Amino acid sequence: MKYFIDSANVEKIESIVARFPCDGVTTNPTILARESDDPADTLKRIRKAIGDRLLFVQVTASDGGEMIRQAETLAAKLDCPLSIKIPAIEEGIFAIKSLSARGFSVTATAVYTVQQAILCAKAGAGYVAPYVAHIDDYGIDSAETVENMAKLLKIHSPETVILAASFRVAEQINRGIAAGAGAVTVTPETYEKLIVSDGTRREVDAFRANWKNKFKDKEITDFFK
Ligand code: G3P
Repeated sequence: MKYFIDSANVEKIESIVARFPCDGVTTNPTILARESDDPADTLKRIRKAIGDRLLFVQVTASDGGEMIRQAETLAAKLDCPLSIKIPAIEEGIFAIKSLSARGFSVTATAVYTVQQAILCAKAGAGYVAPYVAHIDDYGIDSAETVENMAKLLKIHSPETVILAASFRVAEQINRGIAAGAGAVTVTPETYEKLIVSDGTRREVDAFRANWKNKFKDKEITDFFK
């Protein structure tokens, strides 16, 4: 199971990397346009912040040939573990096919349907990224969609991983993983909430109080001195 950070905010990425398990960072043109005035500089800083973890960068072209040229430039300039994100449209399938045949790691993104996932996987995408909340926005059950993708990919393209993306609440993440996503990408804000539980915090307070009640200021390691 892989967890990625869905952000181009370098400070937030650094903070999550320092505190949580994480396998890399996903970006897209919207996120980069929101967080950066100089995407090349921002991506280089993200690359530094995540070390040898995987970085996902999306092409901005809408023409297949241009997508391929952009992927080549990004791979050459960023020179790090990289997955090129290509939208799951017809022009994208062409680019996915050509790039994956040449050994590029490719992620088919903004996936809404099972057939998009299958075709992009057949074209060679290593990851397919269903946009969970956006699918739900259309009144389509995203968990059922991810489950069907997972069932069919397991049979027909077992090496392709579902990278579930676009969550509004943690429950969507649970459902996506349970449905068969092998990876999720989560905003820093949602990441922060995943570990929060009032119940666990109360247990910790009780552990501490019961300990102090008996052993006062002595900590457990003091008994080993
Ligand atoms: O990685 C997908 C994502 O960035 C889309 O986010 O906020 O449009 O659901 P959002």
